[in-house]
Amino acid sequence: MSETYRAAIIGTGGIARTHAGYYMANERVEIVAGCDISDERLTAFCDEREIEGRYADHERMLAEVQPDIVSVCTWNGTHMPLSIAAMEAGARAVVSEKPMSDELGGPMDAVALAQERGVYFVVHHQTRFSPGYNAARKLVAEGAIGAPVGIHMHSGGGLLNIGSHLIDAVRFILGEPAWEYVVGWIQRDTDRFERGSFCEEKTHALVGFAGGHELVVSLDMVDGVKHKHFQLVGPDGVINFDREQATLIDADGAHESLSIEQAGYLDELLAWMDGGPVHRNVASGALETQRIMMAIYQSARIRSRVEPPFEQRASALDEMILAGELPFEGEPYDIRKPEAMAWVAAQREAGRS
Ligand SMILES: NC(=O)c1ccc[n+]([C@@H]2O[C@H](COP(=O)([O-])OP(=O)(O)OC[C@H]3O[C@@H](n4cnc5c(N)ncnc54)[C@H](O)[C@@H]3O)[C@@H](O)[C@H]2O)c1
Repeated sequence: MSETYRAAIIGTGGIARTHAGYYMANERVEIVAGCDISDERLTAFCDEREIEGRYADHERMLAEVQPDIVSVCTWNGTHMPLSIAAMEAGARAVVSEKPMSDELGGPMDAVALAQERGVYFVVHHQTRFSPGYNAARKLVAEGAIGAPVGIHMHSGGGLLNIGSHLIDAVRFILGEPAWEYVVGWIQRDTDRFERGSFCEEKTHALVGFAGGHELVVSLDMVDGVKHKHFQLVGPDGVINFDREQATLIDADGAHESLSIEQAGYLDELLAWMDGGPVHRNVASGALETQRIMMAIYQSARIRSRVEPPFEQRASALDEMILAGELPFEGEPYDIRKPEAMAWVAAQREAGRS
């Protein structure tokens, strides 16, 4: 009989539904508790799923429930403190939402703690499971377009929010090469936030990877564009791709589109906990995605390329804004969750973050 696990979810808003869906579809996992600072969201979420344990305070929940698996589905800046709290309370697995954080220090600490304690720590960059990205990965690995490969990604939604998915997906598609340099440019001249974290209005960056591969990522350069224009270009052809499929075009013309279906996110985590292969979203890998994003901000700050090792704990975006290097006009606004911005501001004022 396979081992069964008790799961808890911290943050019972939008994406928590996906995490709950994973657990409820798997007979080896039972959701035993939810936790949210909003009583309304907590009650609605738990009522709908008949979850008994309901908490406003994560520390109390972790101490009383002692869950085996903890999902962290809160706003960006809280992911790592909550993941660390879950590990310290004895959780065997932690699933953090992306982006890992809005800085680098917390992710470095959390990954180190997970490694020290043997915690199965993953980040929810679930697009690594999409059939189109897996098809693109296979084609690149087979040398269908030759090497080196250039990648162009053009999207909306902010670097931390959508860029974390895109950069992580590119690392996956290319087979996890090390990054070698980053050149970044940003614009922020209004007081923009995203789920409580400082957010730029536009980002443009080059990310160089071992093997000569180079990613060009443009975010919010055209307002409202989301997940568009994904292309891999090599000396022998191009691959147009999205989450659903990948289409190779080479000297023989356009080939039939390819999709490669994947096992589930949770199945892969449980298999890892059973002694199987490391999950494709292992947090030590996602840490490199986070490092690249922070290097983009740093490059924008110093107006020069940034190379590894890059260990700067604080976000250069935050530092630039707080130092007045990015003057802005107008009132603060949050592009996703205004309530997150209000909560984070209150925490800062109270000296709690
Ligand atoms: N992987 C994906 O594709 C994907 C998709 C959507 C959102 N996300 C990520 O998930 C996170 C949450 O986004 P969302 O859209 O679900 O936000 P949301 O506002 O709908 O839900 C977040 C919930 O967390 C709660 N919360 C905040 N701080 C808390 C704390 N300290 N303790 C307990 N509860 C707390 C809030 O009250 C809220 O109910 C974000 O970081 C976002 O980037 C990922």
